[in-house]
Amino acid sequence: MAYTVSKLTDYSEEALEEAVREALAALGQEADELVTLLSAASVPSENKNTAFKAFRDRWMARKNGLLTQINDLWLKGSPKEAKRGVGARVNELKPLVEAKMAKVQQRFVFFSRQSSEALASLASLDTNLQLLKDPRQQVDVSLPGVRRPIGAEHPVIKTTNEMVRVFQKLGYSVADGPVVETDYYNFEALNFPPNHPARDTQDTLFIAGQQSKPQRERLLLRTHTSPVQIRTMEKMRPPIRIVIPGTVHRNDPPDASHSPMFHQIEGLAVDTNITFGDLKGTLDHAMKEFFGSGVKTSFRPSFFPFTEPSAEMFVSCFICGGSGKRGADPCRPCKQTGWIEILGCGMVDPNVFEFVKDNGYDPKKVSGFAFGMGADRIALLKYGVDDLQLFFQGDVRFLQQFG
Ligand code: PHE
Repeated sequence: MAYTVSKLTDYSEEALEEAVREALAALGQEADELVTLLSAASVPSENKNTAFKAFRDRWMARKNGLLTQINDLWLKGSPKEAKRGVGARVNELKPLVEAKMAKVQQRFVFFSRQSSEALASLASLDTNLQLLKDPRQQVDVSLPGVRRPIGAEHPVIKTTNEMVRVFQKLGYSVADGPVVETDYYNFEALNFPPNHPARDTQDTLFIAGQQSKPQRERLLLRTHTSPVQIRTMEKMRPPIRIVIPGTVHRNDPPDASHSPMFHQIEGLAVDTNITFGDLKGTLDHAMKEFFGSGVKTSFRPSFFPFTEPSAEMFVSCFICGGSGKRGADPCRPCKQTGWIEILGCGMVDPNVFEFVKDNGYDPKKVSGFAFGMGADRIALLKYGVDDLQLFFQGDVRFLQQFG
């Protein structure tokens, strides 16, 4: 039986409460039935319109709607001494009916906008309907909202930016180049002889289907950021000072210290009369700026096809202070040596300048130095992380620690 408003005969607290409860129960039940109908994919939208309007008018119509009837039959019809109590109840009821109406209207608008397929899937999600029916789900706009966590720099990017900043303060500008490179820029122009082992598939990830092209045009994933040295020298005449952060790839299976994708920071300075002393002074200063003024640097002979002479630079271990020990225990990051290898470097090989000679890089007139370091390794050491893979797994619990 549909709910009807009847005149009150008993004005006691309990009777008033019961009358209000009865009206709200009817409202709730009718709203539920209506929402079920609105969400049903099988019901044509005209029927939904009619049903929603009927429900709205039944409760809200100024002339003879149930709220008006409640006002008229309960309040206007009550004896003087009961008016206060009845008035309070009616005032309580009104906003509740209005809120319910707003909620149902919201659902009506929502479901009217849904395509029939979407409706079918929604209707089957019974839990959704449960939520709609649950009065606790009504939005309380006075409650604080849900805070969206803001992102933070990834530790590798943060390390990279800090290192780049050190060189920017020395007057270096940032350069970059493509990750998919040609054999020419990655190897040939960097003085790698044709059968150099670094060109082997052991290290290099080649793009498939390039065999029909001449060797120098074949595409590969750059194995270092050094090709950007050539690309920049092709574009900018000397003097130049550039720092090149970027992603590189090598065919290494992932483990605690290797990844097929990693990050490098490259540097190149070319001018007249650049010496190995400039290289040492610049890098020593940069390491003190980055790791702290207490660190020392050490250069040991090495080999790279594109630098001559070449060196590896070590930094005194910033974890054990160079002692090789942590208390009574051996220092693991420096393997008890007190030194940590940080980068490869050297004086730009004159053969490299030959490839960009026409842009002002005559090896008889200019000289320069270059260096390249692994950003991931530096970040590992800096943050005391023992597994490189943690940087690339995207686990928020790990990354949050750097926020
Ligand atoms: N490109 C070298 C590497 O990836 C590093 C390097 C850069 C060495 C510049 C010397 C000069 O190992």
